[in-house]
Amino acid sequence: MKIAVLGTGGGARCHIAKLAELGHDVIVGTRDPEATLARTGPDMMQNPPYGQWLADHPGIPLATFGDAAAGAELVINGIDGHNAVRALAAIAGDLAGKTLIDYAVPYLYNPDIERPWPTPWGVNPILGVCDSDSLGEQIQRALPDTKVVKAFVTQEQATVVDPRSIGGGDHTMFVAGQDADAKQTVTDLLTSYGWTDILDLGDMVAARGMEMYAHMHGAIGFALGFGTHFGVKVVR
Ligand SMILES: NC(=O)c1ccc[n+]([C@@H]2O[C@H](COP(=O)([O-])OP(=O)(O)OC[C@H]3O[C@@H](n4cnc5c(N)ncnc54)[C@H](OP(=O)(O)O)[C@@H]3O)[C@@H](O)[C@H]2O)c1
Repeated sequence: MKIAVLGTGGGARCHIAKLAELGHDVIVGTRDPEATLARTGPDMMQNPPYGQWLADHPGIPLATFGDAAAGAELVINGIDGHNAVRALAAIAGDLAGKTLIDYAVPYLYNPDIERPWPTPWGVNPILGVCDSDSLGEQIQRALPDTKVVKAFVTQEQATVVDPRSIGGGDHTMFVAGQDADAKQTVTDLLTSYGWTDILDLGDMVAARGMEMYAHMHGAIGFALGFGTHFGVKVVR
């Protein structure tokens, strides 16, 4: 399948590599391909520059967000949560009629606001939207002609593409969105990643809970020790 991954961060790289390994025709979207390839330093999460990563994953094309989305049948959003709505709305025409999987967290990194929850990268980000709305809903409202599905966001990025690396794969992935066919497309993709327990949470309103879980995910991660891998399972 022709799949566009919009984003060059750590989460996006996991999907890009896995999709290529599965034989998909992957294209990656970024703001400015030349500028992205010219970077020499690590990003905020200390991932090496994208060009360096690409050297180890040759042959994967890089285009602007719009050009990448235009030629794809399925699109994955890996744009930083605070900027995703604006960036996606700007390419609404390229996304029309397509399924868009959104895994972004609406994190707001603001080192000027003090928070009593220090993280390895300085401050704990706050959620820019929560409780009465979500990033998933904002994206769906901004893209009425696109079938948006929220997924991935409650599991670690490496686990999402390799569920069997934790507990033999015995844990749960969630999906939410308005369109049943789009959710089936995402479920099929997740099955190809190795997921066996995929729980449909219903309409996109469920994205509120999925995104707000980010703080709980952080708390569990810090309790287990930063860098410890874990999954979440709904026992029923
Ligand atoms: N398990 C999961 O589901 C999971 C795992 C990791 C992260 N996340 C969430 O998913 C999102 C992406 O995470 P990530 O780690 O892959 O990448 P990230 O570092 O959060 O974001 C990088 C991407 O955002 C784009 N970007 C940054 N500022 C922008 C702006 N002003 N306008 C347009 N685009 C902009 C960058 O564009 P350029 O390519 O041009 O630099 C880059 O492609 C985040 O919200 C993160 O919290 C979820």
